[in-house]
Order: sequence, then C-alpha cells, then structure tokens
Amino acid sequence: MRVNVEVNGKQRTADDVWEGESLLYVLRERLGLPGAKNACEQGECGSCTVYLDGVPVCSCLVAAGQTEGRSVRTVEGLADGDKLDPVQAAFVAEGAVQCGFCTPGLIVAAHDLIARTPNPSDAEIREALAGNLCRCTGYEKIMDAVRTAAAAAGGGQ
Ligand code: FES
Ligand code: FES
Repeated sequence: MRVNVEVNGKQRTADDVWEGESLLYVLRERLGLPGAKNACEQGECGSCTVYLDGVPVCSCLVAAGQTEGRSVRTVEGLADGDKLDPVQAAFVAEGAVQCGFCTPGLIVAAHDLIARTPNPSDAEIREALAGNLCRCTGYEKIMDAVRTAAAAAGGGQ
C-alpha cells in the first residue's frame, strides 16, 4: 500500500508498505530518518519514540498504515536547521549520551514533558521517562540533562 504522512513538516510518501510494517521501519528504511532507534521492537524500551499527532508513541508498535494523513515528528524534526533544540543541546552538554541508542527516544519524551510541565520535579521527570530504558548511563546524567533543558526553556530549576 501507499502511505502519505507528514513527517517533520513535510509531506512524505512511502510505497509498497506491507500491512504489518511499522512506522519505525518506514521512517528508518524508507524515508531515510534513522534517528528513532530499533532496540526491542516490542514496545519495551522507548528508543523508537516519536510524536504522532503531537503525542509520543513507540513507533515500533504503530502500523505505518495507521499514520495515513497524520503528522509525525521525529528527533530530527526537533532541531531548527543546525540549531539544536534545548533538550538535544542539554543531553550533549551534560554528557547524557554514551552509546546513544536510547538517546533519541529519551529526547522526544523529555521534550514532551517540558512542553507539558515547564518546571518538572525529579519525580515528574522519572515518571515521564519511565518507559525509556538506558543500559549505559545510570540515568543521573539524563536527569541532569532534563533539568538543564527545563531551565534553558525558561522553567527554572
Ligand atoms: S524499539 Fe520500540 S519500544 Fe523498543
Ligand atoms: S546511552 Fe547507551 S543505552 Fe543509553
């Protein structure tokens, strides 16, 4: 089937999509957007998180056919050209990236949290990121990055 979907503000078309094909596969393999990562393909790790109509979802669990006519925003779409989004910049500045597999999903989840809750408590950060697993960092630097991003976005610490 053909799928027409807006991705990062541009209308995109994917052809020959099979019925069970995931949005994650279409983004990575058909549309050249490798930001969302495929770590478990079972909805367990959050590394594939993208916005679908403004709501974070695990793109490995969304059938591409379900996205017809809808809007997707990936981690690539958070930056403004070469200018990183404050959440992206904070992950770099705080050294919250090691292997990087979890990072795109964490950034989308943190971006959503800060949009909804500009000055999140540590408990709110932990709750918002509970679906995103990281095997490398021990999460402390990720917490630091989200606090820094929230402050940069104007929420204060
Ligand atoms: S790859 Fe989608 S949740 Fe792990
Ligand atoms: S940095 Fe490696 S899984 Fe998080």
